[in-house]
Amino acid sequence: MKNTQNPSFPIELLAASLEQRVEYFRKCRIEHPHLAHGFKQAMSAINSASGPKVVLVTGPTGAGKTTLARMIYKALMHQYRDLIAKDPGAVPVAGFNAIPPNGASFNWKDFYIRLLERHGDVLTNRKILLPRQHDLFEGLSAPLPIERSTTEALRRASEKCLTNRKTRVLIIDEAHHILMVNDPKRLEFQFEALKSLTIESNLIIVLVGTYKLLAIRDQSGQLVRRSEIVHFPRYSLQGEKDKEDFGAALCRLQRQLPLPVTPNFAPDMREFFCKSGGSIGILKDWLSRCLEHAILRGMDTIDYKFAEEFALSNKSLITILDEAIEGEIALEDASIDAVKALLYRVVSRARALSAKQPPAKKPAKVGERNPSRDKTGGDHEKK
Ligand SMILES: Nc1ncnc2c1ncn2[C@@H]1O[C@H](COP(=O)(O)OP(=O)(O)OP(=O)(O)O)[C@@H](O)[C@H]1O
Ligand SMILES: [Mg+2]
Repeated sequence: MKNTQNPSFPIELLAASLEQRVEYFRKCRIEHPHLAHGFKQAMSAINSASGPKVVLVTGPTGAGKTTLARMIYKALMHQYRDLIAKDPGAVPVAGFNAIPPNGASFNWKDFYIRLLERHGDVLTNRKILLPRQHDLFEGLSAPLPIERSTTEALRRASEKCLTNRKTRVLIIDEAHHILMVNDPKRLEFQFEALKSLTIESNLIIVLVGTYKLLAIRDQSGQLVRRSEIVHFPRYSLQGEKDKEDFGAALCRLQRQLPLPVTPNFAPDMREFFCKSGGSIGILKDWLSRCLEHAILRGMDTIDYKFAEEFALSNKSLITILDEAIEGEIALEDASIDAVKALLYRVVSRARALSAKQPPAKKPAKVGERNPSRDKTGGDHEKK
């Protein structure tokens, strides 16, 4: 059967292996307005001279944040190509993922090691061992107390490395992992570490992550002053423009599916919208699964009925949408009255109430009685 619908993929792919066809679709990138807008906003924040030191790129899962981060990285590498040509040792842009903690809190050691490795630092291992080596030769060189901390040593090595390598922009994906701490008091330390990186190394940090990143804005005045938020939202069923843009993106994706007959998803656009939660990334991953199964089953084309089989469960979509809506609400600005109330030192009702509340009771020790009035008198007295 011939493909009549003007597909966007190289036609010889139809004769390629399953892996090649799926890989082609997995790697293809389509333009859509939210991506274009996020890119423009992020690049202008990064390049403005008086601009922020921290750019927060945030959005729901599957919106395409990592895709956007890669576009930013490529564009910046192109922008700094002259600097790289003049000084091959320069690393003006670096990027890596913040790994989720496997223990109680975010692992800064791992973070600094990744940072050093991205800068081609071949002596990272020596830096990790540095404090212990001092200990081995006790008495020969007395280490400063601060040198005993591997994290501290790595942090200072990272700051030096960023300066020497002329790093201007550091892109950290999955940056919400940095804020994963089991003790809220430790959050302050996380902010301090980020602030120190921006100030000491005079660079711009682009933090890419889910709405959990907004905790930075809510809890660290010093970082807020130096930050700008780039919102990369999902498409919404409420706006006509959003529906149109999502429909256009769906159409672009269907033309990239290396199948003998290009599918026509237009009549079921609303269904595709619902089962992808309005996220291009979720839609793309879903269509990749459909493509693989269609090729395995030797099908010429697919439709919504077939695709439905490989969609996310409604429960998963509810979890994703709940998180997205919570994030969208958190992004809404507070009223100017709230600002004025603070400026005029009007104590908010909530604060007044919390101040009035009695202090929390200390739990009684094992075997200790709760304070209560003992009964006076007894049966023998009544008689
Ligand atoms: N514009 C696009 N064109 C084609 N594919 C895309 C586009 N945007 C995202 N994708 C694909 O969708 C999937 C999810 O995208 P991505 O990883 O960028 O989302 P994310 O917002 O970073 O998600 P998460 O929050 O889970 O990290 C990936 O397979 C990616 O290649
Ligand atoms: Mg991502």
